[in-house]
Amino acid sequence: MINTTFKYTVLGLCFIFLNLTSQVNAWWWISPPAPELPAYKDKYADHFLVGSHMDFSEFYDARAKEWYTTHSSIVTANPFYWSAIQNPNGSYNWSFADDLMTWVATQEVEVRGHPLLFGSVDPDWVFQENGNPISREALIERMRNHIQTIMTRYKGEIQYWDVVNEPTGDPFFSLGMEASAITDVYKKVPWYNIIGEEYVELALRFAHEADPDAKLFVNENNLIGPISLTKKQNFISIIKNLLEKGAPIHGVGIQGHFSADYPPVGVGLVCDTIKTFTNMGLEVHITELDMSIYSISQWVVPELIPSRNQFGLLSESRQRARYTNLFRELRSCSDHIGAVLTWGILDENSWLRFEPKERNDWPLLFHKNYEPKQVFRDIMNF
Ligand code: GLA
Repeated sequence: MINTTFKYTVLGLCFIFLNLTSQVNAWWWISPPAPELPAYKDKYADHFLVGSHMDFSEFYDARAKEWYTTHSSIVTANPFYWSAIQNPNGSYNWSFADDLMTWVATQEVEVRGHPLLFGSVDPDWVFQENGNPISREALIERMRNHIQTIMTRYKGEIQYWDVVNEPTGDPFFSLGMEASAITDVYKKVPWYNIIGEEYVELALRFAHEADPDAKLFVNENNLIGPISLTKKQNFISIIKNLLEKGAPIHGVGIQGHFSADYPPVGVGLVCDTIKTFTNMGLEVHITELDMSIYSISQWVVPELIPSRNQFGLLSESRQRARYTNLFRELRSCSDHIGAVLTWGILDENSWLRFEPKERNDWPLLFHKNYEPKQVFRDIMNF
């Protein structure tokens, strides 16, 4: 008969151990000696393009450039946001975008321009004229000028464009915007409020005029899993509407901002969502992949989610399992996928350290010294 004291002592020690290990940085515990890795793009050459967006805090770091050379696709991001590339007086800031495109031109890599229109974050001045709300006609002309000026400058150098980012209503995840009503097919961004739903079609048509060879995408988040069914249906209706009108849309970007517990991966839901759009004759890229260590509930009640101060053993093992299962699933339907792109390289530079609130997170594949995390080795091990 094990006496009660001994039993509770053992239980207490287990509880302490689990709590300690969930905070202890497990990386050095379970990362075997690092065997040399093949180039990311070579390993996935038979499946899909792989890469990341070029974070401006990494771009000028030689170690980042070294890692980017292993990519087969690169996303422009920071220098192309409207707030970064065009001024209220209408002039453009080309220096960083040109720096990025000059370096990219030295690489054998497909380039994804992101974004042209992103209604949730496009600056307020875009929607004003002489201090008053801009007219529909003037806004359409401003849209055309912005899209065609940028695309003409990099014509032939950027193969894919996220022409419109996140046009669909979202009752939960509305970066920079108040949440949409569950019935809102379109997110009530100023583009929609002033021009109407035609803004998406107009943007695509202006883009196609500027560079007929570029592949034009609409990029959206929160499309996978049971919580997202309404949003997915609304996005499908937007895409079908564009196809019925003969709009020049070539693909959709399915954003992969995943959480520790959502969406389900490795069970076919991701591939099913991808096939929904390839069955419509569209190319599909998994864009902006990252995997927070926090629950999906972080987007609904962030104030209830305590910040972690370590990438603990339990967080890491759960993240490794989800990334491994996700990439296994993606490889199983890779003939339906054009690219799989993370949103950044280093945990330390992830946007998830600031959204939905400022706190630690370790959502990506590399540590701050550009050392691959064990999870990167996991997704390279097949
Ligand atoms: C969104 C957008 C990106 C960027 C990231 C967060 O989904 O598509 O442009 O804002 O998330 O950095």
